[in-house]
Amino acid sequence: MLRSGFCVAQITEKEQKTMGETNIMNVETVALDDQNSALVIIDQTQLPYKTELLHLKDQKSIWDAIYLLQVRGAPAIGVAAAIGIYLAAKEIQTDSFDDFYAQFKKAKEYLDSARPTAVNLSWALRRMEGVVLANKEKPVGEIKTLLLEEAEEIKREDIWVCKTIGEFGLSLLKPKMGLLTHCNAGQLATSKYGTATAPMYLGQEKGYDFKVFCDETRPLLQGARLTAYELMSSGLDTTVICDNMAPTVMKNGWVNAVFVGCDRVAANGDAANKVGTSYVALAAKYYNIPFYVCAPTSTIDMDCENGAKIHIEERPAEEVTEMWYEKRMAPEGVKVFNPAFDVTDAQNITAIITEYGIAYPPYEQSLQEIFKKKAQAKDNK
Ligand code: MRU
Repeated sequence: MLRSGFCVAQITEKEQKTMGETNIMNVETVALDDQNSALVIIDQTQLPYKTELLHLKDQKSIWDAIYLLQVRGAPAIGVAAAIGIYLAAKEIQTDSFDDFYAQFKKAKEYLDSARPTAVNLSWALRRMEGVVLANKEKPVGEIKTLLLEEAEEIKREDIWVCKTIGEFGLSLLKPKMGLLTHCNAGQLATSKYGTATAPMYLGQEKGYDFKVFCDETRPLLQGARLTAYELMSSGLDTTVICDNMAPTVMKNGWVNAVFVGCDRVAANGDAANKVGTSYVALAAKYYNIPFYVCAPTSTIDMDCENGAKIHIEERPAEEVTEMWYEKRMAPEGVKVFNPAFDVTDAQNITAIITEYGIAYPPYEQSLQEIFKKKAQAKDNK
């Protein structure tokens, strides 16, 4: 599906199923094949028509897969990076800690450069680096084993985090409600459940019978291609709308709550998510509909003061002008502005749902409380 200007990640081994042959919810978004030293991902650029697993063995393939959105969504990028850096560490041939760490750091910086906005990428890599630094007295072989354990733990935690966010989110909802979501903050963006979709899946298990509107999400159509596919595969009542139709379905009274994910939340509650999210928040505010941001604490960056400090990724022009069309749709040479994310102002967010509870404004205080709860939970372990 990716066309001009993109190099496609090397496929060293291929498993392929066409739409309908497999339930996408039963396929792991991100996995480690340790025996073959490979990061295994679903190539999300091919969905929903083809479910193809990529087995990525070298750092360039992993970097490309993240950059090209073959693996995407903040938590899934974090898990992929953790597995990726473990695989890089495994390849390092030295008994000297200093040599090992120098090569580890180089690989870490390389992976970290793949996408700038989703803080989970640097969060997961920093966490893996923490394991290396905390164990510098140990033999290199042992450090590699500890890195494997940490990568597995990051993935396990992600599943717990998403499920818990889902439970908090569901506590805000009633059966038969209409919900709206933007982009894909679903299972395909995480290890399981998703964040914004987790209340939908947990509600579905309880027979809540939600009706979900998915914004198609220009320019890369994560809503139409991924969220709609996931939700339908799970039996949810799903309707795709163009991004500019959100105010219409809200005005019609079909939406009781909006749930979105995020790529980075600043300490004041400003939240970066897929471009178009802030426009949905404005419409929701106008129509008095609660707007919830689902945010694992790994996506909250307390070192980032506010949304203006969030680095917003800009992507190639052809994603807008030609990628989904048979023929280019905009004049050659036209200027294109293609930011991948926008920032929703904290004042337009009803609440931020984390795995340690629901934060309400003022977020400067409530997010600090969330991190206190997280620290307490760690101490009690
Ligand atoms: O560019 P993408 O597809 O990686 O953007 C993804 C999003 O904006 C998601 O909403 C966000 O990462 C949260 S995923 C739980």
